[in-house]
Amino acid sequence: MNPTTIADPAALDRLLGWPRTPLVHAPTPLRRLTRLESHLEAPPLYAKMDAETGFALGGNKVRKLEFELESGRIDGVTHLITAGGPQSNHCRVTAAFAARAGLRCVLVTNAPAPEAPSGNALLHRLFGAEIVVVPEREDRIPSMDVVARKIAADGGTPMIVPIGASTGLGSLGYALAAHELVQQIDALQDGRTRTRIVVSASSCGTVAGLVAGLALLGRTDVRIVGVSADATEADLRSTTDALVADALRLLESTTDPTSIEIGYDDRQVGAGYGIATTASLEATDLFGRLEGVVLDPTYTSKAAAGLVDFLRRGGAEEDERVIFVHTGGAPGLFA
Ligand SMILES: Cc1ncc(COP(=O)(O)O)c(C=O)c1O
Repeated sequence: MNPTTIADPAALDRLLGWPRTPLVHAPTPLRRLTRLESHLEAPPLYAKMDAETGFALGGNKVRKLEFELESGRIDGVTHLITAGGPQSNHCRVTAAFAARAGLRCVLVTNAPAPEAPSGNALLHRLFGAEIVVVPEREDRIPSMDVVARKIAADGGTPMIVPIGASTGLGSLGYALAAHELVQQIDALQDGRTRTRIVVSASSCGTVAGLVAGLALLGRTDVRIVGVSADATEADLRSTTDALVADALRLLESTTDPTSIEIGYDDRQVGAGYGIATTASLEATDLFGRLEGVVLDPTYTSKAAAGLVDFLRRGGAEEDERVIFVHTGGAPGLFA
C-alpha cells in the first residue's frame, strides 16, 4: 500500500493497535470467480471470502465480535445476552464464543425454532445457549434488558451484545477488513485501476466499517454498493452514516467519510426478510453451479442477486473490477 495515500495515518495506527480477541483466520481469500465472470461477460470478478473467517462456521459477525468481545470488555462477565431471529448468524457466533470462553449465553429470539431445530437454530442449542422467545421483533431489546436485570439480581454479571454487533465498535472489524482487502487489491494484476465492492447490508455494521476504513486509508478508488436484505435505501443510508460517524469518533479521526462513494440497492428484498426471490434463487444457483460457492437464503443470495443485476445492467465502469464480499450465513441453507 502506498503510505502517501493514507488519509489519516494516526487513526489507522489506532485501528491496527485496537485491542481485540483474535478469532478471524485472516486474511480471508480473495478468489477470482472466473467461470461466473465469463458466464456474465463481466469485468474481472472476485469474491472476498468472509464466509471463511473460520470461527464457528465463519461469516461477517466474527470480525465484529473480535472487537465487541475483546477480553478487557468481558473481564468478569458471566453471561452474554444477545438477540436475533431463530436463524441468526450473529446469535450463532455469540453463542459459540460464550461456549469457548466458558460463559453462559442467553439468546432472545422473536419466533420459536421448530421442534426439531435445524440450521443456525440447531447450532444455537449445540453451543449451549438458553433461548428466550418473545412475540415480536420489537420485544427483543426490552427483553434483553429484563434478562440482564434478572441475571444481575441473581448475582451474575451480564453483558448485552447489541443486535448484529452493529455498533461503532463492532464496525471496526470491517474497517480492519478494508485494510486487509486493499492490500489484496493492490496485489492484483488485472489491468483495472478502480474497484467496486458489492456487499449485503442489513444492520449496516459491515458496510459502515468498510466506509470508515476506506476513508481513513484514503481509498477513493474503491466504491461500494450495499444490497439490502430487508431495509429501505433511506434506512440503510441513515443507519450506515451514524455507524460510520461512531467508528471514526472512536478512532479520533476527522476524515471525511463522504470521500467514499456508496450506493444502495433495496430492490432485491422482494416479499421480505429471508423470503427468496426469483433473482436470489438464480444467484444461488449460479454461484453453486459455476463456482462451488454456497450462498445463504437471507443475505448473500440477495446481495448476489444485486451483483448479477449490477453486472447485467453494465454498472461497472471501464476501469473497474468488481468484488463481491461474501459475508457467510451458509447454515441458513440447511434450515
Ligand atoms: C450472513 C450475513 N450477511 C450479511 C449480514 C448483514 O450484515 P450487517 O448486519 O452488518 O449489515 C448479516 C447480518 O446478520 C449476515 O448474517
